[in-house]
Amino acid sequence: MKWLVIVLVLIYLTESAIRIPLIRFKTIRRILGERNKLEEFLLHHNSDTFARKYNSCYPSEVLMIRDVGVTSEHLSNYMDAQYYGEISIGTPPQTFAVVFDTGSSNLWVPSSYCVSEACQLHQRFQSFFSSSYSPRGNSFTIRYGTGQLMGVLGKDKVTIGNITVNGQEFGESVYEPGSTFTLAHFDGILGLGYPSLAEGGAIPVFDRMMYQNLLEEPIFSVLINREADSENGGELFLGGIDHSRYTGSINWVSVSQKGYWQIEVQNITFRNTVVCRNGCSAIVDTGTSLIAGPYTSLRTMFPDHPEMELGMGEIIVDCKKLPVLPDLTFTIGGVEYTLEAEDYIKKFQEEKAVCLYGIQAINVYSSKGPLWILGDVFLAKFYTIFDRGNDRVGFAKSRHSLDSRESTED
Ligand SMILES: *[C@@H]1O[C@H](CO)[C@@H](O)[C@H](O)[C@H]1NC(C)=O
Ligand SMILES: *[C@@H]1O[C@H](CO)[C@@H](O)[C@H](O)[C@H]1NC(C)=O
Repeated sequence: MKWLVIVLVLIYLTESAIRIPLIRFKTIRRILGERNKLEEFLLHHNSDTFARKYNSCYPSEVLMIRDVGVTSEHLSNYMDAQYYGEISIGTPPQTFAVVFDTGSSNLWVPSSYCVSEACQLHQRFQSFFSSSYSPRGNSFTIRYGTGQLMGVLGKDKVTIGNITVNGQEFGESVYEPGSTFTLAHFDGILGLGYPSLAEGGAIPVFDRMMYQNLLEEPIFSVLINREADSENGGELFLGGIDHSRYTGSINWVSVSQKGYWQIEVQNITFRNTVVCRNGCSAIVDTGTSLIAGPYTSLRTMFPDHPEMELGMGEIIVDCKKLPVLPDLTFTIGGVEYTLEAEDYIKKFQEEKAVCLYGIQAINVYSSKGPLWILGDVFLAKFYTIFDRGNDRVGFAKSRHSLDSRESTED
């Protein structure tokens, strides 16, 4: 269980942009899968079952379980999240491991008042020890696909690297249902989406950083390391673009809807199959590890895999087939982004090698129709720049293996 150990996080500094190393852990889905508990888990975390079971636990003012719909159907249910970094909250600082998630916009960590099993196993914020803390007095609930988390909002200093944001709203969860977060190796989530996705009227951390002029540029960039067995997950770079992390040029595409980082895809090809032929929307989501697409599209793409079920996640493929598997190409802004089999197949060395498609079926809709999700499988190949100043996303070919440079910097 060596992956349980939280690795010391080092912060590298350059000008007024900061590097936050990302650490990789096993996903909740994988842990459940290894314990043969995935199906059972999905069964019990069906949202109806969930609502019936837990409704009575909520204070009446937070009883409104939000419609499963456009923004509330939270894509990143964190079952597949696997990259975390460290932040601190309060004075003196209390440290938390968080998922930097472009698919949501709130910051939350467990509260010391939380008695749920999931909270017991994680760092919990102790507001009474922080001299800079102030309560906001309202409660919040966050749906995460199959469950719901609830808590109270407060304000405090939040530090990421050497950037300190003052008066940052964040949620302290007092109730974390189910086993999802019990198994998580992160304490909380730091949402990097647009303010329109934020619950409870909270201004997202990155927006506060912009307002407080803490960044050189209103941009953050993400490098995801694709070495599946390494703990070095990559890097979040706040305040600019790290030009050493990609090769070639950056291609930009406008954000088409400012909530998630949503963009338009012109078409998607796989073998001789073209899906999304007349265009479709996709979100660029660091909080999701796979590429996900609408069930009907995936059925067309994988006719020989009838076992591909909605929400069941990854399907197994014979590792010997890797050399003959087709490329998966997304055309975005007239540029083709091609993933070869070795990019979209996740290979695990256990007793024998296990290969899984890093692609799953999920039905999520926006006002522009069904959404595709470009998660870490896509982001590992393409260095991604999130530009709030110009509301656009930039992709370039990632350059990995800079580990030697990092070790000379500290
Ligand atoms: C963070 O550290 C870098 C390098 O020391 C510095 O240039 C930058 O101004 C610092 N940022 C803040 C917000 O203090
Ligand atoms: C995909 O879209 C691009 C850009 O519009 C177009 O040039 C290309 O022919 C399309 N490919 C297919 C297979 O439709």
